[in-house]
Amino acid sequence: MDKQVFADRRARLLGAMGSGIAVIPTAPERVRNRDSHYPYRHDSYFYYLSGFPEPEACIVLVAGDTPRALLFCREKDAEKEVWDGFRHGPDAAREAFGFDDAFPVGSLDDKLVELIAGQPALHYSMGHDAAWDGRIVAALNRVRAGVRNGARAPAEIRDVRIALDEMRLVKDAQEIADMRRAADISAAAHRRAMRTAAPGRFEYEIEAELMHEFRRCGAQAPAYPPIVAGGANACILHYVGNSQSLRDGDLLLIDAGCEADSYAADITRTFPVNGKFSPAQRDVYELVLAAQRAAIAGIAPGKAWDAAHEAALRVLAQGMLDLKLLSGSLDGVLESGAYRRFYMHRTGHWLGMDVHDAGDYKLDGAWRPLQAGMTLTVEPGCYIRAADDVPRALWNIGVRIEDNALVTGGGCEILTDAAPKSIGDIEALMAQRG
Ligand code: GLY
Ligand code: MN
Ligand code: MN
Repeated sequence: MDKQVFADRRARLLGAMGSGIAVIPTAPERVRNRDSHYPYRHDSYFYYLSGFPEPEACIVLVAGDTPRALLFCREKDAEKEVWDGFRHGPDAAREAFGFDDAFPVGSLDDKLVELIAGQPALHYSMGHDAAWDGRIVAALNRVRAGVRNGARAPAEIRDVRIALDEMRLVKDAQEIADMRRAADISAAAHRRAMRTAAPGRFEYEIEAELMHEFRRCGAQAPAYPPIVAGGANACILHYVGNSQSLRDGDLLLIDAGCEADSYAADITRTFPVNGKFSPAQRDVYELVLAAQRAAIAGIAPGKAWDAAHEAALRVLAQGMLDLKLLSGSLDGVLESGAYRRFYMHRTGHWLGMDVHDAGDYKLDGAWRPLQAGMTLTVEPGCYIRAADDVPRALWNIGVRIEDNALVTGGGCEILTDAAPKSIGDIEALMAQRG
């Protein structure tokens, strides 16, 4: 880890703030029951600016002529380190993570009062965490209580996420390297799933294969709960039960990606449990693949965020007419939104430290133009539930194909190409099963 990368990000935020003070805490630990905790995951904004992995920590940035970056963290504690492991302590943390100064987190409340007093603006994510909001309001009120002694509380409270979201939206070289790694590990996990799926196996067994590959390759966790959905389950968008057995003749939809070094991948592949697409499955699959190709062609610098979605929609809607899922004209179906019965989500989202990553999708009411360095998913789908007015051969076919794209100078690069996607490649890989 290069501490200069994080110092540069703090310097950029300080520049964007112009004046005032920013307070950026990390995530709290959460008790699951008694003395068991949920797995700890740092706050993405905090980590983006520090690379510091410990809980109970907070960054304070003071803008101005001599900008300062301060870290508050846990003190060394020999007894606690026996139970819970290493803690840097402020001195080592300042050095290792490149802060101007570092203090015990126990001193934060008093220090905040000193640091906030006289600042024109407080940059903070009000409303994100009630406990931190309480601490910040208490510090502001203590400053206000000192007005007769000449203290002055900030006139403005600004949401620090606005500047940080813009920064996080365009990935730097370190982030792109991290995202490539998450994408590579996740693609390997999908290949493993294709090699191990078979009639009679359970969805959770395939989930276990994905998790095995994630952890084997050093990813810390899944980036979101994996969806391993056989047959009709593929038509439940957020199916995470993963409890059913896989049936010969069904498709299997897997939406799974790992988090590696704080960056997410988000891949969906759909393939036949028995290794061979039926003609009806092939029709729907090729339609979704064509929609994805059209969407990918719509991802380039200067193109609007929505271009990929609009392109995918046209292909999907025409396909739904051709497959007799819908009737009428293409423009009519697009206008009425009738396609939503079979395609009810959007074609992508920003991707980064969070699977649905930070960043606005519109600027001044218009879809924002893409820019080199942005990373997004491209994930059209078609979900056909059983119904009397739907051709019988198409019942319970749910297909989504999801890749991760990096906007480049001339278009985009698909980071997740190592997960097989064409019918030929999928069937060839599955034919190698023992
Ligand atoms: N896996 C979450 C999504 O595709 O948006
Ligand atoms: Mn996604
Ligand atoms: Mn997904």
